[in-house]
Amino acid sequence: MKPISNQLKQHHHLNPISLHVPGHHYGTIGHLNLKLKNDITEITGMDDYHHPDGIIKNSEALLYKEGYFSKFLVSGTTVGILSSIMGSVGYDDKKVAIMRNAHKSVFNALELCGKGAYTLPMKTSKKTGVFSEMDLDCIKVNDLKEIGIVVITYPNYFGECFDIERVISFFHQHDILVIVDEAHGAHFNISDQFPDSATKFDADIVIQSYHKTLPALTMSSVVHIRDDYPFKDNVLHYLTMLQSSSPSYLLMEGLESAHQFYLNYNDELFFERRSELIKVLKVQFGVIEVEDPLKLMIYHTDYKGTELQQILETQHIYTELSNENFVLFVLPLWHEGDAYLFDDLIHRLSVIKLEKSDVKHFESLYVGPGELLSVNVMNAKWLNVDRCIGYVVAQHIIPYPPGIPVVLKGEKINGDHIECIHHLMQLGIHIQGIVDGRIKVFKNIDEN
Ligand SMILES: Cc1ncc(COP(=O)(O)O)c(C=O)c1O
Repeated sequence: MKPISNQLKQHHHLNPISLHVPGHHYGTIGHLNLKLKNDITEITGMDDYHHPDGIIKNSEALLYKEGYFSKFLVSGTTVGILSSIMGSVGYDDKKVAIMRNAHKSVFNALELCGKGAYTLPMKTSKKTGVFSEMDLDCIKVNDLKEIGIVVITYPNYFGECFDIERVISFFHQHDILVIVDEAHGAHFNISDQFPDSATKFDADIVIQSYHKTLPALTMSSVVHIRDDYPFKDNVLHYLTMLQSSSPSYLLMEGLESAHQFYLNYNDELFFERRSELIKVLKVQFGVIEVEDPLKLMIYHTDYKGTELQQILETQHIYTELSNENFVLFVLPLWHEGDAYLFDDLIHRLSVIKLEKSDVKHFESLYVGPGELLSVNVMNAKWLNVDRCIGYVVAQHIIPYPPGIPVVLKGEKINGDHIECIHHLMQLGIHIQGIVDGRIKVFKNIDEN
């Protein structure tokens, strides 16, 4: 019995085409070509990931960005976020400010530190209906005095960017340290047609998931920490505590190769193919383009995004995610000599014939900002979704992907939340935090 390996075999038997992470797209991008014989350990001639002074140190040095110390991560951006927050808080009473579309690792870090958070006022994107950027003009000056660190999600999952230079300098002017979750922007600045990375504007820490958009193995990320970051040693200490003591050389070899790919990339074929793809898509679908050219969203007025995703899967085209409104494509960084089935993709898209009728409305799935309270996990119980209004949620409720909570642990649940949860359930979207139609909530004071 080999359930995982059987399913993987079956999947590849379908000759699938990937429009999702990881960025090597079934090994068709970037000549990753990793060999099992290279999965070795700290023997003579190799190095120690946690205290590198040989080949790993030399390879990490190639990540160089002016003013930063950069390190490979073998447990994803997740561990970069956990370590950056855990290593930087607890030295004063100052709060951590977060965006409402923060990844769950941000909330997990806060929970591990026993810290609450200040949720920044947000703007919702008119294009995608999801949280896109913070609303700097609505932050109260008095609140800023209480904040020591801000964690910024840039770009959002859907490739939407904002003026990151302005945001970083705004917080720096108020003596607030800036950590940027750039999980979806490892390819930024790969050419001048892609958005800028926050490392260009002196963010204090920037963490990038190389595996999401560059050709690296899943779990491979990079953290850039400013040389003068006051808690640099603490962050590195947490990275050592929270990652495996035996990181695989395959992950590090993949990171090294992905970085060379990044340095040498020529975007000509990418933009040629992207234009061709958009042309073919527009015959039948609406196409939303955002600041990051690597992300496209397709929609159709007669279909939900979840339905479109299923239709694409009938042609064995697999996409990153879908919601009520659209399907998200993560495009490959196409290049001369890649092995991506591009002609096949174009052919399979042209075979699809849409025929449906009932009209849907384009609407936001995300509930507005709420206050995140600091709460303890004791005294919780499971309640049916429909009976939860007025209770404080004891576990984040997270559609996955994208992994961004729609209700935060500590938020009081309201009718909008319930409507949103029902909506997600009806769409068949996988939701972490809901088990058998029930949600974990804190008991009210008068309950036992
Ligand atoms: C915004 C954001 N931050 C962080 C992460 C975690 O990244 P990783 O998968 O590299 O641990 C994700 C993962 O999807 C994400 O979407």
